[in-house]
Amino acid sequence: MLFVTSNSGKFREAKEILGDVEQAELDLEEPRGSLEHIAMHKALEASKRFEAPLFVEDSGLFIDALKGFPGSLSSIVHSKIGLEGIISLMKGKEDRSAHFKSVIAYVDGDGIKLFSGAVKGVISEEIRGTGGFAYDPIFIPQGYEKTFAEDQALKTKLSHRYYSLMALKSYLQATR
Ligand code: IMP
Repeated sequence: MLFVTSNSGKFREAKEILGDVEQAELDLEEPRGSLEHIAMHKALEASKRFEAPLFVEDSGLFIDALKGFPGSLSSIVHSKIGLEGIISLMKGKEDRSAHFKSVIAYVDGDGIKLFSGAVKGVISEEIRGTGGFAYDPIFIPQGYEKTFAEDQALKTKLSHRYYSLMALKSYLQATR
């Protein structure tokens, strides 16, 4: 099975959970819309280039006080304003709640299926930790004090991608 992604952080997490998976890179155009819409579009594009079974994953950070921003724009927002930009947008906000969401679109001979996962948490007051990638240094999962970047082991067992990958894994175990 192929995981079509150029994000090696995402691939590492998938490999740990699924084991039997290879990485394939493809520069895929990203349409505007929900994570579900983007993931489906990318999976169908990828299936024109690679042989199924394959999957793509689309994810994002949704901050309540910013009305869900950056959401499906997480990747571009991270590259443009970075973590400092988010921290300054959050200055003085009392409600720091946020969630990460992950949507997997899986394609095989039977068609396309979606699996999703989410994790709630809060945006930290400052950038903390060096592990992980992108927004990990400013996201503290609910019930914990460390950011995902400070505690990578935490991420392995309760991230948004952990849940979507586990949903895919259960589906594969039940149907293969
Ligand atoms: P995608 O590659 O289009 O799905 O973009 C997802 C973006 O959301 C990434 O580039 C990151 O900016 C952010 N993101 C998704 N998952 C994570 C995560 O586990 N940690 C930190 N940032 C994440």
